[in-house]
Amino acid sequence: MPLVPMRLLLDHAAANNYGLAAFNVNNMEQIQAIMEAAKETDSPVIIQASRGARSYSQDAYLRHLMLAAAELYPSIPIAMHQDHGNSPSTCKSAIEQNFTSVMMDGSLKDDGKTPADYDYNVSVTRQVVDMAHPLGISVEGELGVLGSLETGMGEKEDGHGAEGHLDHSQLLTDPNQAEDFVRRTKVDALAVAIGTSHGAYKFTRKPTGEVLAMDRIIEIHKRLPNTHMVMHGSSSVPQELQDIINKYGGKMKQTWGVPVEEIQLGIKNGVRKVNVDTDNRMAITGAIRKVFAESPEKFDPRDYLKPARDAMKKVCIARMTAFGQAGNAGKIKPVATREFARVYAS
Ligand code: G3H
Ligand code: 13P
Ligand code: ZN
Repeated sequence: MPLVPMRLLLDHAAANNYGLAAFNVNNMEQIQAIMEAAKETDSPVIIQASRGARSYSQDAYLRHLMLAAAELYPSIPIAMHQDHGNSPSTCKSAIEQNFTSVMMDGSLKDDGKTPADYDYNVSVTRQVVDMAHPLGISVEGELGVLGSLETGMGEKEDGHGAEGHLDHSQLLTDPNQAEDFVRRTKVDALAVAIGTSHGAYKFTRKPTGEVLAMDRIIEIHKRLPNTHMVMHGSSSVPQELQDIINKYGGKMKQTWGVPVEEIQLGIKNGVRKVNVDTDNRMAITGAIRKVFAESPEKFDPRDYLKPARDAMKKVCIARMTAFGQAGNAGKIKPVATREFARVYAS
């Protein structure tokens, strides 16, 4: 099966009331973990790479790993997505590398740090849509800046994200503006800001409505019932994974992520793509720490990379099941990007 445009998967998810996890990858083991989880659960897959991931893994390795995934799992539809593209040129280079979907994150300027104004966001996002849709490539845009409603700080744990203090009008997507943004840009998916941030340190306690604004999602869905929404920063940061890391020598501070039941509420209200990276990073780290702590004599990387891969697979299966994408891979008729260009043109 060829890699498919993300829009194909989002439309199927919307028609059948489920959400899709979009997992970040940087290497072969992570791709293997996702694909094995998808096979076991019959799930369609969104794999995404950040700019940092592309530079870490190098585009050619990533491109061929994705081709290998498509070859090895012919019954699983896979979309390959650029996460947080910072400029039209980043999106263009992703498309040249076989990505079937790109995110133009115009909520920030191209330095990936400075909050951008609305007109800039509309303009760069529309530019990317005009470049991508004729090629059958899907586009995600972002409106509102990711960051904490608890502290007012943007997220920059992973080196990408707003710097300094932001007010609530920046940290929460405005439903009126969302209507205008979707109409003017024609994006396939809209990432919304609701108080989530990347990384492990999202909330200092189990989040309530003041710090995790699910009501925004409900409101935007009422206004834009046909728009596919995206929740970023959606790792749940399970206690169990924090405990494993700390039990085997890690030093993570107590923290809370986005509860799975809040994501499920989002899915009932128009969320179709749920970005998850941190939970997988934690699963991998916990498994490797455990091997190092229990068997310090080992030095074959396979001795710790296999348990790491298994631990990530377990997280992927849990999310695929909870978001409802399990059982849907076989129901999707694949469409290649070239054919999908005709859908966009019609
Ligand atoms: O965008 C956030 C993802 O967790 C990717 O993080 O930029 O460290 O690869 P990264
Ligand atoms: P987490 O850090 O919560 O996994 O979020 C990942 C993300 O949003 C990638 O774009
Ligand atoms: Zn993100």
